[in-house]
Amino acid sequence: MIKQMCLSKIMAIPDAPEKDKRIILSGMRPTGELHLGNFEGVLRNWIELQNTSRCFYFVADWHALTSELDTRQIGKYSLDMVADWLAFGVDPYKSTLFIQSSVPEHAELSLILERLVNIGTLERLPTYKGYLEHLAGDRKIWEGKDENRNEASIGKKVKAKLLEGDERLAAIARAEVSLGFLAYPVLQAADILLYDTTHVPVGEDQLPHVELTREIARKFNRTYGELFVVPEVLLGEAKRIRGADGRKMSKSYDNELLPSYGLAEIDQRIRQTITNRPQLTSKGDPYECPVYDLQRIFNQEQEIEIGRACREASIGCFDCKMKLPGKITAAYESYRENRAKISEDYVKDVLREGNKIANVVAKEKMSQVKEMMLMGYLKR
Ligand code: TRP
Ligand code: SF4
Repeated sequence: MIKQMCLSKIMAIPDAPEKDKRIILSGMRPTGELHLGNFEGVLRNWIELQNTSRCFYFVADWHALTSELDTRQIGKYSLDMVADWLAFGVDPYKSTLFIQSSVPEHAELSLILERLVNIGTLERLPTYKGYLEHLAGDRKIWEGKDENRNEASIGKKVKAKLLEGDERLAAIARAEVSLGFLAYPVLQAADILLYDTTHVPVGEDQLPHVELTREIARKFNRTYGELFVVPEVLLGEAKRIRGADGRKMSKSYDNELLPSYGLAEIDQRIRQTITNRPQLTSKGDPYECPVYDLQRIFNQEQEIEIGRACREASIGCFDCKMKLPGKITAAYESYRENRAKISEDYVKDVLREGNKIANVVAKEKMSQVKEMMLMGYLKR
């Protein structure tokens, strides 16, 4: 149920419950509609944490800008995303929800932290290397002035050399990767350190970024004095949901389940989902099957039984699948009801109030940073 927003109530910075001093911060990039993987893998965790900890959850819109320059959808995606958070159960009376680009201290601190990180360290991050490989695809890259020359142009240059391995990726990076993309994890470190975050709930893929944040915090503390809390990662219970084709659930693969789907659409998606058993008589391995990911979340009463039946080949995939659509639809019923009631104005009010709180906290931290660095010298 969505309460009428009482602004004065959220204006006060809520204290963390006493026995638990944890400060939680996490961000999500507004890149389009959230799918069930985001809801079950990330949001579920956020909602649980807000009962025991001081939580900051924010829209990482500057981070979205590192891979996508087209900003026409960014406002819509951001507001829709926060409406989804609220409808699912993120509570603005318990957690501070805000927009990264409304708190300029994120950029200001990032600029300072950039000075504490070597380029080589950023280049070695698996997230960065993975992105380069994705960008490179199976293209052939030739050495030369124009690093992107395609195969067709090779005959026109005499001493072109085909690049391989790290050299090939480095050439792609020089030609096609922005400075902001390389510095993405530094901005993330600024996000985290500004709020004295003790725990960062993220997926496994983000582990190297939190590790980098820890290194940066320690380096700052060594260089200018103890200021930053060295945060820890909080890995949620790994409840990943693979998409219908068995790959990671993602809009770009067109394999996702959306919470807005009705029974018929969910049913259809699940029928399409590939399973781990080519034939009814062959034994399956449920952990290799995307349908079982769903059973583990939406059909916990039968999870064990189905797992066993799959391994023994005593249940057919069709019967296994058909246990799900009704359960998934039911699990998202209150979400859909809430979502229909949330207006854009309400979302904006929530964010404006959250922005105020985030600004107070971030400003205070940033002024401490300047003091530690002896850069407030006009004040004295
Ligand atoms: N990099 C994160 C992602 O892609 C999003 C993010 C940005 C984030 N800043 C953060 C997550 C700070 C946790 C803390 O999912
Ligand atoms: Fe997947 Fe269920 Fe078939 Fe096993 S029985 S392979 S879990 S769909």
